[in-house]
Amino acid sequence: MSGNMIHSGLEGVYIEKSSICKVDGEKGKLYYRGYCIEDLAEKSTYEEVCYLILYNKLPKKKELEEFSEKLKRERTLSKEVLEIIKNMAAKAHVLDTLRTAMSAISADDPEPYSADESVNIEKAIRIIAKTATISAAIGRTKKGKEIIQPDNSLDHSENFLYMLTGNKPDREKTKLIDVMFILHAEHSSNASTFGALVACSTLADIYSAVVAGEATLKGPLHGGADEAAVRMMESIGDPANTEKYIDEALAGKKKIMGFGHRVYKAYDPRAKILKRYLDEIDGNDEEDINKLVRIALTAEKIMIERLGKSHGIWPNVDFFAGPLYMHMGIKPEMFDTVFSSSRTVGWCAHVIEYWKDNKLFRPLEEYTGKTDLEYIPIEQRR
Ligand code: SDX
Repeated sequence: MSGNMIHSGLEGVYIEKSSICKVDGEKGKLYYRGYCIEDLAEKSTYEEVCYLILYNKLPKKKELEEFSEKLKRERTLSKEVLEIIKNMAAKAHVLDTLRTAMSAISADDPEPYSADESVNIEKAIRIIAKTATISAAIGRTKKGKEIIQPDNSLDHSENFLYMLTGNKPDREKTKLIDVMFILHAEHSSNASTFGALVACSTLADIYSAVVAGEATLKGPLHGGADEAAVRMMESIGDPANTEKYIDEALAGKKKIMGFGHRVYKAYDPRAKILKRYLDEIDGNDEEDINKLVRIALTAEKIMIERLGKSHGIWPNVDFFAGPLYMHMGIKPEMFDTVFSSSRTVGWCAHVIEYWKDNKLFRPLEEYTGKTDLEYIPIEQRR
């Protein structure tokens, strides 16, 4: 029995101090730079939230206008990056193409590597702007459609939905996609942000850190859960089958995607906000989406009964997101690009903050193998 305390998954371990985001897991509260997520989702915009997260203050009108203009100027992609997307997107997972294109755009960044905060904020703005264009271009290529150029009369998230679907979203969908971007923007030291921090702690550049974040986000235990949850709803097929499906899954120790959280042991406040939007579309969409909404709302009630209060397993941000994305014309294989496009600001802000007091991440592991074995030449091995 060793004397070393092993913290598997770094559960319960604090790795840094940060003023970017507070996740109150017990109370189910979330704050970006001190502002509660409910206020930001209702009253702010994703562009304003990006400014808040990067500069640690809400912008004045002129500051926001300038920030928005900078994002617009940075939306376009080089023809080399567009070629990479055209050649890869149809056959690869969206995040594989996204992280490949992310590596490629780093070659177009006019400013060399720098430790300077203001230089890296400019780089973050470029990355945020281009990630939405890359994501939409991936979606168009996957559908065998022409890539759509950015429309600078539209704001960031609205323009993303336009470039992805080819239709300028109405007011309801414009607000909804912007709320989705706000809710996914930042969440303290989640797995993908931690991945970005490990990369930046070696003093690799901000693009490498974002690529690390995108690679980490892909798994179904993290960013991939929204697609997995909708695939589950599709396989349930009929709301009347929901209870049987869930009880059989739980009996077989299967995890229900979109529920549970390492930090939230209460209802994820983001899921609460999304549920309100789901209630609004309940019954007002095409039949297949209405069915998914019914299944989601039924599953929520059953899971809360089964594992909510007793086990602290509640809906998380990924559970209700799927039907809402589909309501906006975003297919399940594309969900990860919304999450990743949105979370780019969180990854960049944490990297920039961490560099202020950088410390290389180098945890230990307790070795359980042998030592000092005799090397036997291959001819003598039996
Ligand atoms: C995100 O960290 C973040 O902030 C992430 C995120 C962000 O914004 O960046 O919030 C976004 O990733 C949300 C989470 C999305 N993932 C899922 O929805 C996947 C399903 N959820 C689970 O895999 C799980 O809840 C995790 C991974 C989210 C958290 O798991 P933990 O903290 O490592 O806990 P665990 O897997 O050890 O589970 C503890 C117990 C187990 O039972 P026992 O073995 O002790 O009997 O709870 C059970 C688990 O089986 N459990 C579930 C469950 N989640 C946990 N059982 C059924 N369904 C589930 N969803």
